[in-house]
Amino acid sequence: MYSDNAKSKHTKPVTLSTLKKMKEDKEKITCVTSYDSSFTSVLNVAGVDTILVGDSLGMVIQGRDSTLPVTIEDMCYHTAAVKRGNTNAFILSDMSFMSYSKPEQALDNAAKLMQAGASMVKLEGGSWLADTVRLLSQRGIPVCAHLGLTPQSVHKFGGYKVQGKSQEAADLILEESLALVEAGADILLYECIPTELGKTLTEAVPIPTIGIGAGPHTDGQVLVLQDMIGLNLGHIPKFVKNFLTDGRNITEAFEAYIKEVKDMTFPGPEHGFK
Ligand code: KIV
Repeated sequence: MYSDNAKSKHTKPVTLSTLKKMKEDKEKITCVTSYDSSFTSVLNVAGVDTILVGDSLGMVIQGRDSTLPVTIEDMCYHTAAVKRGNTNAFILSDMSFMSYSKPEQALDNAAKLMQAGASMVKLEGGSWLADTVRLLSQRGIPVCAHLGLTPQSVHKFGGYKVQGKSQEAADLILEESLALVEAGADILLYECIPTELGKTLTEAVPIPTIGIGAGPHTDGQVLVLQDMIGLNLGHIPKFVKNFLTDGRNITEAFEAYIKEVKDMTFPGPEHGFK
């Protein structure tokens, strides 16, 4: 429906330099997950800056109970679909569980995602990933490192729990963030951490931060698309807001999200953690 004629509100492709400049200029970065071509086209029409092909597709597309069963082939398939619907948004793609447990293996799998259409790969973890991040970065692959609540470690955490609540845990996230920046990470994504920690981390690192359940102070925000249009009939996390309300159509719902992130009315205090 949208693929041939859809226009993006961005007049040129959003690049890593654009995102770094947005941090400098204090313009909030918007990100929404997408897994297919149609939603990607509509997100472009609404003017989203970045799209995350998240391994959350394991839950919202495949109906699984975690992201663990998702494969790198699944990620490549959905990245290619998103790429076909995309005009100007910057595309991040998740590396699936165990597809980056060793640096050389990570390089092979990251190359597959880049060839499928990603502009950046995202992987979950802290300083143990530094060698991997360094290798990918040296080979010209931009990297987003995901810290805080990392859903691929759900069984280690014993559930989807807020991270970084104690001073010691917060200090560790800061230390790991700095190690990843030093290794060459280009973006840091923080999930489910206290609002104040989101602020501290964002001020401490020279690269853009994107948050989900990390408060309003991160440089950008991401939500799972299905959550933001009320397609989640199960547990609704505290950081989620349904934008498909007040008689809006889907494009208008995405536009409302983008506006609220840009003017810092979303996320509000009620969406954050202490
Ligand atoms: O897979 C995903 O959608 C994610 C977001 C929750 C950030 O990693």
